Amino acid sequence: MERVMHLPERIEIRKATLEDVKDLEALWNEASRPCERYPIYVGQGLGSGQAAVVALADGKVVGFAIGYLIVERGSITEIYVTPEFRNLGIGTVMAQIMDYHLHLMGAKEVCVYANPHTERFWQRLGFTHRESVILTRPCASKTPIA
Ligand SMILES: CC(C)(COP(=O)(O)OP(=O)(O)OC[C@H]1O[C@@H](n2cnc3c(N)ncnc32)[C@H](O)[C@@H]1OP(=O)(O)O)[C@@H](O)C(=O)NCCC(=O)NCCS
Repeated sequence: MERVMHLPERIEIRKATLEDVKDLEALWNEASRPCERYPIYVGQGLGSGQAAVVALADGKVVGFAIGYLIVERGSITEIYVTPEFRNLGIGTVMAQIMDYHLHLMGAKEVCVYANPHTERFWQRLGFTHRESVILTRPCASKTPIA
């Protein structure tokens, strides 16, 4: 069953805009993903129709979620809530809003990249396992063609 959350009044969740890029960068770094290309990744993304929401507590950004759409599949690629604001329902509401944004953009389904700590969080939101394994490695730095 869909979870209905009642957030504290001081918490606001809204669509992210280009004006949030700077505040999002601080949280992005806090989420242990310092990245020089952050302003390009998120900044350009927000400008080109990427789905993104921010959570604010008394006007300060305390959480974000970012996703995108490829054909009819939506993905929530990042979701983060700063530790002192966890367990208030912010993550749940951000995920539900992202789901709805992706639906409005044309998604028929939504997938998430869960980690072992957040599996239960996603399962409570109705996500189920799909039998696949993600393998990664750094990109090739040379062409294989001589
Ligand atoms: C995953 C993450 C975004 C969740 O954010 P959050 O705001 O704490 O999420 P919620 O408060 O909605 O839910 C968290 C838990 O609090 C419980 N909860 C706390 N207060 C609640 C309330 N008022 N009403 C209902 N449930 C509440 C929920 O049941 C939930 O428990 P569960 O884990 O058993 O499902 C956050 O923990 C985080 O940023 N983690 C680090 C980054 C990360 O791992 N991101 C995910 C990559 S996939």
